[in-house]
Amino acid sequence: MAKRLVSGIQPTGTLHLGNYLGAIKQWVELQNNYEAFFFIADYHSLTERPEPETLEQQSLETAAMLIALGVDPKSSALFVQSQIPEHAELTWLLMNFVTLGQLNRMTQFKEKAERHGQNAGLLTYPVLMAADVLIYDASAVPVGEDQVQHLELAREIARSFNAHAGRVFKEPKALINKAARVMALNNPAKKMSKSVLGSAIGLLDTDDQIEQAIKRSVTDSDPNSPKLSPGVANLFTILEAVSSRETFLHFQRLHKDGSLRYAELKEQLIDDVISFLGPVQKTYGSLMKNEGQLRRILEQGRKIAQPIAQEKLAKAKQALGLLS
Ligand code: ADP
Ligand code: TRP
Repeated sequence: MAKRLVSGIQPTGTLHLGNYLGAIKQWVELQNNYEAFFFIADYHSLTERPEPETLEQQSLETAAMLIALGVDPKSSALFVQSQIPEHAELTWLLMNFVTLGQLNRMTQFKEKAERHGQNAGLLTYPVLMAADVLIYDASAVPVGEDQVQHLELAREIARSFNAHAGRVFKEPKALINKAARVMALNNPAKKMSKSVLGSAIGLLDTDDQIEQAIKRSVTDSDPNSPKLSPGVANLFTILEAVSSRETFLHFQRLHKDGSLRYAELKEQLIDDVISFLGPVQKTYGSLMKNEGQLRRILEQGRKIAQPIAQEKLAKAKQALGLLS
């Protein structure tokens, strides 16, 4: 039996190239080596109170984009978190195996609480995340570096539960993706993010928008200084992901030889980002036109995942002495 891999992504806003290179690309690469479970973390997104009118649509859009990027619903289970309410019930059980001190130490809580106010959902967010992975006995959890602290906490929660009620949960391992941290095009000191205007290439951007964003990207004044500036290094990161190996090596050589011209690098990048996103946008468009099919795919994922979640939840309740 292949080991199980579990990961989630929030349905907040449109995805950008940073989300793809930092998270989804790794899912696509790993899905064939594991029994993979991927989900839209809509319960998690409630912590930032998204507009009720648009949340459902955003969940569908995110699912369609995952498939367009290569998540294969035939070989992995793709579902929506809130359609498996067992995640939420397990969260309540796990809540008793974590302290306020542990939750208060989470960096993301401190950051987000400043922006959104200290709602209890933001504080207990990592407990829901622990439930997401423990409920499936996940061996591997691919995440970006910002989520590693949450995964560590999930391991501690599993240990504490097991110590009290007997071994029910497996300690999951984070698969940390350090490979690609895409920086903001307009400020290479910050990460590309949907919340920073002009920083991102959206996966649904038009050719014109892509061209403008890349043309305006920050480089530096000397294309042939021996060390790549952060802005140029970032363009190379994107080039490596979207262009052919030959093209990438060609531009690396130009830089080494001292004959790199930024305008040329940008032209190439514009062409290659557009060719990369073209087919993705096409698949996305046809999935969004056929909402029935998309919903059926998510239903199929739910049917695979929910029985496993139900069984694990029942074990946890029994282990705690809840009436069966
Ligand atoms: P945003 O910063 O745009 O709000 P999220 O925080 O919703 O993005 O991130 C969703 C996923 O994408 C996470 O796994 C995160 O690690 C990854 N991610 C987001 N921005 C980047 C980036 N600039 N480079 C690499 N990975 C990123
Ligand atoms: N918190 C994650 C993020 O914002 C998303 C997420 C929710 C997740 N549950 C998870 C990731 C379980 C991995 C495993 O990126």
